[in-house]
Amino acid sequence: MLKLQDKVAVVTGGGSGIGKAICELFAKEGAYVHIFDLNAEGAENVAKEIKAKGGNAQVHVLNVTNQLEVITAVQVIGKIDILVNNAGIAHVGNIENCKEEDFSKVFDVNVKGAYNTLYSIIPVMKSHGGGAILNLASIAAVVGIPDRFAYSMSKGAIYAMNLSVARDYMKDNIRSNSISPARVHTPFVDGFISKNYPGKEGEMFKKLSDSQPIGRMAQPEEIAKLALFLCSDDAAFITGNDYPIDGGFIKLNN
Ligand SMILES: NC(=O)c1ccc[n+]([C@@H]2O[C@H](COP(=O)([O-])OP(=O)(O)OC[C@H]3O[C@@H](n4cnc5c(N)ncnc54)[C@H](O)[C@@H]3O)[C@@H](O)[C@H]2O)c1
Repeated sequence: MLKLQDKVAVVTGGGSGIGKAICELFAKEGAYVHIFDLNAEGAENVAKEIKAKGGNAQVHVLNVTNQLEVITAVQVIGKIDILVNNAGIAHVGNIENCKEEDFSKVFDVNVKGAYNTLYSIIPVMKSHGGGAILNLASIAAVVGIPDRFAYSMSKGAIYAMNLSVARDYMKDNIRSNSISPARVHTPFVDGFISKNYPGKEGEMFKKLSDSQPIGRMAQPEEIAKLALFLCSDDAAFITGNDYPIDGGFIKLNN
């Protein structure tokens, strides 16, 4: 029996990295996956791979910061059982080098983007008897990481929004949890290393890998397995929690 048979899932940022791995695993487990992503090419490639393996996927090219675009896509889909709020962007810097436009951009994508999908999809879940929500937070929500001012702000907001939603919609049979990964090797990490540490890419990659006591970064597929568990009926008793998946980062870094 497939774990997500006949479920309809929306995954934001499903065109790359962790979101891509989640889309692929969810489709393999029987879900019809709707990919919400800005990047048409990445999202189409993921959908193509899923279909080639006999799965179901549909791409919605949209910006999660635009509420009208999100609402329009949700209306087209109809029933939705699972929402994964995964789309996110990085920012490296402390408060003194976080310009107003950087702060607003990180807030818009990482926080308002999640608000827009929650705002549009929770009423749909309610009208169909419930659902499961998974929000991508980060270790940066609960640990002071150097030079991650705006990013930490956004993931702290995700951590708290998750609790609020879990509390308010328990009565509607909607579960909501978050995942807090440490470093995961995706284009997100490669991108901020090359943008912020030009010429020192190898050194930074090693430093970021070594910062997990386990000695490496996670692979996106490892995050997808936890996402699958939390969004499946196997996790029916789990709501309002945050799950670190961090190679020991939070508790063993001493
Ligand atoms: N990679 C890590 O080390 C790590 C660690 C902890 C948490 N996270 C979180 O996991 C999530 C995914 O990270 P990733 O590493 O897979 O990133 P990624 O950059 O590989 O993929 C992000 C995807 O989101 C899409 N996206 C970005 N802005 C968007 C927007 N406005 N509208 C629609 N789509 C948009 C991108 O096009 C891309 O396909 C993010 O929320 C990130 O903060 C990542």
